[in-house]
Amino acid sequence: MALKILDHGTPEYQQMIKLRDDILRKPLGLSFDKEELDNEKDNLLMAAYEDDVMLGCCMLVEENPQTVRLRQMAVLNDLQGKGIGKALMNFAENLARDRGYQKISMHARQNAIGFYEKMGYKKVGSEFKELTIPHYIMEKKL
Ligand SMILES: CC(C)(COP(=O)(O)OP(=O)(O)OC[C@H]1O[C@@H](n2cnc3c(N)ncnc32)[C@H](O)[C@@H]1OP(=O)(O)O)[C@@H](O)C(=O)NCCC(=O)NCCS
Repeated sequence: MALKILDHGTPEYQQMIKLRDDILRKPLGLSFDKEELDNEKDNLLMAAYEDDVMLGCCMLVEENPQTVRLRQMAVLNDLQGKGIGKALMNFAENLARDRGYQKISMHARQNAIGFYEKMGYKKVGSEFKELTIPHYIMEKKL
């Protein structure tokens, strides 16, 4: 497995949108709009690959000079539970550290809380709804 940084607007970015759509949006009956994707051009986009197949992805968005927000963490359905999410998370954390950030925060879906807890993230505050489903803010000091 290879972990890579992706450039916005490239064929790899289109692969990422397809993966995110399949895993994160279609199951909720939702999709991405152009404005949302245009706004991702300054984000740090990354993915795990086996040859040309994208296995998983995520992105980091600057909230402030100290904090980045993790978004759009998704692994192919058939390959979940095999360590791909963990490898992506470690890659994202190392990139964030290298760039001088001190904290990662996120809006975590309730179904993924156990995964993030294993990665050392803690819930902050109470449950809220986003994209129609329950979420928690979670964070970790780097
Ligand atoms: C959540 C997700 C990104 C995790 O990636 P993954 O590749 O399946 O996770 P890993 O195999 O790297 O798991 C790492 C550890 O977390 C555990 N884990 C993974 N998913 C878990 C879950 N949903 N609940 C509890 N623990 C979980 C694994 O058992 C593993 O534990 P171990 O280190 O003791 O063996 C992936 O399952 C996914 O894409 N889910 C659907 C989309 C989603 O909900 N994304 C998150 C949006 S906030």
